[in-house]
Amino acid sequence: MQDKVPSGLDRKEAEVYRHLDPKRLPKHIAIIMDGNGRWAKRRHMPRVAGHRAGVSSVRSTVETAARIGIHALTLYAFSEENWKKRPKTEVDFLMRLLARYLKAELPTLNKNNIRLEYIGRQYELPEDVQKRMEWARQSTSHNTGMVLTLALNYSARTEIVDAFRSIVQAAAENGGVAHLHQIDETAVSRHLYTRHLPDPDLVVRTSGEMRLSNFLLWQLAYAEIYVTSTLWPDFRGVHLLEGIAEYQKRERRYGGLNGEHAHSAPIPAEFDITDDEDAPEAEASNVGKSEPS
Ligand code: FPP
Repeated sequence: MQDKVPSGLDRKEAEVYRHLDPKRLPKHIAIIMDGNGRWAKRRHMPRVAGHRAGVSSVRSTVETAARIGIHALTLYAFSEENWKKRPKTEVDFLMRLLARYLKAELPTLNKNNIRLEYIGRQYELPEDVQKRMEWARQSTSHNTGMVLTLALNYSARTEIVDAFRSIVQAAAENGGVAHLHQIDETAVSRHLYTRHLPDPDLVVRTSGEMRLSNFLLWQLAYAEIYVTSTLWPDFRGVHLLEGIAEYQKRERRYGGLNGEHAHSAPIPAEFDITDDEDAPEAEASNVGKSEPS
């Protein structure tokens, strides 16, 4: 419990923040924004109304994350599958919404010292949107605070394919096959779209779905997963803080053990594994085979 609350948090946010440990905030949070369509359907509105309402959630979440000192926030704005499989009218709407968001939010991004980046195959997006994206990226490139990365036309599998291509290209230009022997996890990470970021510590998914949906599959290897039933257009900074509170209750082990179990302890004889035929598995597999009747 702490008294110092960063400026700009509203009353509800401050209440949750007071219970957080500021020294154990996740450095990088990734969010799968989901539920816009359902939000609109519940209100008998067209799906795009959910996307439009989702922009306020983006604004609130980004500002709160920056105010509490999160280093990196990555938002899954739309996937390669969304882009290729949704009706053209919806995709066109999302493109216009993105272009408008970038223009309208630039002052707020700069005010909060936020640097904008993108992941995904940008070059497949409409040219005017690409230009707007590049303009917004450059206009925030001097900022030194939180890195806000928008995943647009993003697919984790495509990212891994592109990383393979990039590795092979680098090998071709630098020592050929011999160069490939130097490939390790760090080298692979350097060829991913996220080379500018540490791996996420926490991934949040809204609307209750328990899937990663082809998002940052390599980078989320050790991330804590927080799923909330809140639909994205209802999500606000306070919900992000609730996710962080849940994250701080978890024990991160990266495949190892913590506390008293971390030290090497002898295995009691009755639990040790021997390779003899009296082992329970051997008995079970012999049932009905050679027992005299
Ligand atoms: C998933 O909801 C959401 C999307 C595919 C688009 C996300 C876009 C926004 C939040 C607004 C714009 C974002 C920026 C960065 C300007 P869904 O349509 O799959 O919802 P459903 O599962 O309920 O149908």
